[in-house]
Order: sequence, then C-alpha cells, then structure tokens
Amino acid sequence: MTTNTILIAIAWPYANAPIHVGNITGSHLPGDISARYHRLKGRRVLMVSGTDSHGTPVSLRADAEGKPVEEVYQRFHKEFLDLFQKAGISYDLFTTTHTENHFKVAQAIFLALKKNGHLYTETRPQWYSPAANRFLPDRYVEGTCYICGFTGARSDQCDRCGNVLEPEKLLDPRSKADGSTPELRNTEHFFLDLSKLEPAVADFLRARQGYWRDTVIGESLRKIESEGLKPRPITRDLDWGIPVPVEGWEGKCLYVWFEAVIGYLSAAIEANHLLGQPEAWRDWWTDPAAKAFYFIGKDNIFFHAAQWPAQLMGADKQFLQIFAEDDGQPLTLPYDVPANQFMNLEGQKISGSRNWAVWGLDFLERYDPDPLRYYLTINMPEMRDTDWDWAEFVAKNNNELVATWGNLANRVLSFAYKHWDGHIPTPGELRPADREILAAIEDGFETVGALYESVKLRAALGETLRLASEVNKYIDTASPWFEIKTDKAAAAITIYTALRAIDSLKVLFSPVLPFTCEKLHTFLGYDTPLFGRQFTESVADSLGQHNVLRYDPGAAAGRWEPSQLQPGKALRQPAPLFKKLEPSLIEEERARLGT
Ligand code: MF3
Ligand code: ZN
Repeated sequence: MTTNTILIAIAWPYANAPIHVGNITGSHLPGDISARYHRLKGRRVLMVSGTDSHGTPVSLRADAEGKPVEEVYQRFHKEFLDLFQKAGISYDLFTTTHTENHFKVAQAIFLALKKNGHLYTETRPQWYSPAANRFLPDRYVEGTCYICGFTGARSDQCDRCGNVLEPEKLLDPRSKADGSTPELRNTEHFFLDLSKLEPAVADFLRARQGYWRDTVIGESLRKIESEGLKPRPITRDLDWGIPVPVEGWEGKCLYVWFEAVIGYLSAAIEANHLLGQPEAWRDWWTDPAAKAFYFIGKDNIFFHAAQWPAQLMGADKQFLQIFAEDDGQPLTLPYDVPANQFMNLEGQKISGSRNWAVWGLDFLERYDPDPLRYYLTINMPEMRDTDWDWAEFVAKNNNELVATWGNLANRVLSFAYKHWDGHIPTPGELRPADREILAAIEDGFETVGALYESVKLRAALGETLRLASEVNKYIDTASPWFEIKTDKAAAAITIYTALRAIDSLKVLFSPVLPFTCEKLHTFLGYDTPLFGRQFTESVADSLGQHNVLRYDPGAAAGRWEPSQLQPGKALRQPAPLFKKLEPSLIEEERARLGT
C-alpha cells in the first residue's frame, strides 16, 4: 500500500431503531478498527457516516409512534452519537442525511447523472392506498416475495433471499400502515439506467476480483454476470426526504438508497468544512490514489458494490462542474467493500421487535467497551454468520482477555513498579531468549499489520493474542519472581524485556482495545495519548440544527512501530485493565431476551 489517504466509509444506520451488537460488529466496529490502524500507520484517515434519516423505514416508525418524523429521527440520532462515543467508534464525522450540505450534494449528483444522460422518466404502476389517499413505496407494502415465496417480504427487498425486488411484482400486497390492500396506480418517476452503466460496473468489479471477499463478489459481479443490471427508479412519492431538483416534480423525493450512499461524499465535504478546509475533501474524493473502504452488512452489498459505483461513474466530471463550477474530475471509486455477514443471538436471528437483541447502549450500562469490542472482533462474521452467546462472551473475557492479556500486563507492571521503585529496570546485555521474544513481537508489526491492511480483523486479533501467550511462556520460563530472590540483575533483564514486549503488544491490540491500551500506555509512563478525542458539536444550517460527532487527533502520538521503551523511565501506578466476569450473569442476561 503506497497511498497515504484513506476513506473509511461506514453504512448509515436508519433512524428507526437503536443499534445492537449485530450492527456494531457488522460495520461500525470493523470500520473503527481499520481507521485506528491506518491512523497508527500515520496515514490521513477520514472516517465518515451518519444517520440515514429519510425513507420509509423512518417514516413508518414515526407513523407507528404517532410522532413527527423529524422528532423521531433526531431522537435516534442522539442515541447513535452517545453510543459511538461510549463504544469508541471514532468517527471523524458522524452526521445525518438531513442537512443542507447533503441535500445540495445529493441533488448535484442527481443533476450530473441527468446531464450525462443516465436518467430517464417513465410512468409505471405503483402501490397506492385508496384508504390513505397516497402512494405506498418500499417498506410501506409487505407481501410475498415473487422470487423465493417468503411471505414477509418488503416491496423493495426480500430479507429471506436477499434480492432487491421490483415493487409492483410483489404478491398478496398489504399496507404496513393499516393492513389494507393497496392497488396499482400510475405515477411518473426518474430511473437510473443501470443497464447502460452495466459494462462499466462489471469492469470495475473484475478489477477488484482478486482481493475482494468472495461473498461480496458473489452478490455483485457474479450476480450481474448472470442477471444483468436493470434500470431502477430513484424517486418516490413521499414528502419526507430530499426534493427532486427538477421543476414540476414538487412533492416527490429522491429514493433513500439513491441519496444515502451519496452521504459518503457529502460527509467528507462537511467534515472538511468543519475543519476550516473547505477544499480538502478532494484529497479523498478526486485523487485516484486515495483508498476508500466501505464497511457494510451483507444486505447492503448491491447498493455499495453496484449501484454506488454506477452513480459515481455516471456522474463523472459533471458532479464537480455542477457542484463547484470547475473543470471537474471523476470521483474516487471504492477500493474495497469488506461486507460482513450477520451475527445471530443465542442461536436465533436478532429481532428488535421481539427484543431478541443485545442493544449497544444498554450493554454499556453494565459492561465496559473493550470487552465488547474484543468479543465482537474475535467473533466477527467476516466470512459466515456468527452467534453472540453469553456463555462464550464470559469465557472469552475471562480466559483470553483477562487471563492471557490483562494478567500479563498487570503482573509485569506491578512487579516492576514494586521492585524497581516505580521505574523501568535497566537491563544488562540481553540473552538469546530475550532477543528471541522481542524479535517475534517485532515481526508481529508485519504479520498483524498485513492482516489489518487486508481487513482480516479476526485473524489480526487472534495473531496478537497468540503473541501475548508467547510472552506469557517466556515469563513462565524465566520466572522473574524467583530470579529476583537470587539474581536481581537477571530479573531486571526479564522484566525489561517483558515490558518492551507489552509496550509493543499494546500497539498491536490498540485498534481493537483503544480504552484499555490507552490506560496501559499511561501506566508505561507516556504523556501523549495513542489516539485523539471524540466530541459532539451542534451545527446550524437552513434546515435547522443537527448534532454531529467528531474526532480531534490532538496530540495523538501512537505509531505502528515496535517499542523503544527507555530503561530508567518512570512508570505510573498500574491497575488491572479488565474485570473477571461472574458466570451468574449468563442466565441473568439470557432472561432479559425476548421479554
Ligand atoms: N440505512 C441502511 C441500512 O441500515 C444503510 C444505508 S448505507 C448508505 O440498511 F450508504 F446508503 F447510507
Ligand atoms: Zn425472496
């Protein structure tokens, strides 16, 4: 990897439900781990996302609550900001799609596609509710999937077979708002001519086939090769959303999936604007060497791996000509889309409505963030669905996080602090075993680093844990607790070596375990932090006011480099990094589910 500019783009959560552990491990956490890794490598990282505030998922929720949709989206948005701060999901900017900036950017992409001849209008039948006197797009209608026969399909997408559906083909339709049967009526919409963009999309995917996850290629390139890409309507008869920027189209909005993906671009623009560098977004978006990683769940693959690249290629230089009135340049295409599979819960699919879920904020009221991040990473659904199991959570916490890593750091630090008067011992010449363990850990910066580069986060954490057990073995063999009784100079070498190994492991673990590694970093006597600081801010524009979450690198000095710990340097009073968990919580937590 030669580039220095990294965009970390994370799927925008709908403002219709709180975020659960499946969402966290699906996109936010892998994105955060990657962002932190690239920051440690000294790269220019921009990590963005926001609340997906529009579309039928959000207005349906507002209907159900009998509340204005604006109020509902704001409420969930606030919760998201709170969760990401508490879980250490270090967005450079987490904003919302309901901003003036996003409206402008989304409308400019639409107009660029229109100017480049990729849009056309067509009048087609659409589900209409005579009872409510309105059209019912997307999730407003449920029925039977015409592909797999699933009876709970939404008109735009089937959750069983994963296909994107043509709404008017849905069988046995019923309105989600009142259960009534809708009828088909004609309405005019803009269509994105994906069939014309298909060869470009297929070429784009073929160029990435060698390194993309097979699951993602299967849902994109292989699907396109067998079924082709069909034109898709990108406007809707809705009043909550972004107005279609064409005269005579009042009362219609851009389709939520068309505009939300544009958020990756608009958020980069807003982020740099907030930093007082209004042109800097171009470094991520018009430099072909910039690398953009998209962290999403498997149900989002079509939109990110096919439709979004088609939008970007179709808009081409025209976007900048419209948006910035300059000569224009093409926009940067995705470099990788490491979509995750799903995480189930105690053997069943996570379901918000049945409360079969572990909610992020609720979890963090009882437990610390790093044990959550650890379990969600070691169990991340990178290649296949995984399962959150409370007994396994407790076992992994106690046997791996506490026993292998936490105890190692704590016993070595405490021992050094006690016997060398709060300072790092000054060693004599290192012995072969000392040099060997330090070399093994040093190699970890290459091997673990390569795993982070290729977004194999489970393996990166597994390898780091293996290195920690190597250090445990080294200490058990050297036994400084006995050495010190007869030969304090020998014990000094062992403890110095172990401290250096721990100092390095701290860096290797830190993308996954930022809170505890930061603590360990201060115990080791450092004064500048590994990472920056998250904060919220209120931004006003013509649509009102929205809160955002930001990241300030400040004096962050963490580097992806082996320890250079100086002998004689002062330590700080250590304390355990993790808590052992009581097995009794397993049944307590299971009893909360589904009630
Ligand atoms: N809100 C969608 C979901 O939760 C994801 C949108 S990703 C975006 O499935 F890129 F379109 F914003
Ligand atoms: Zn289906």
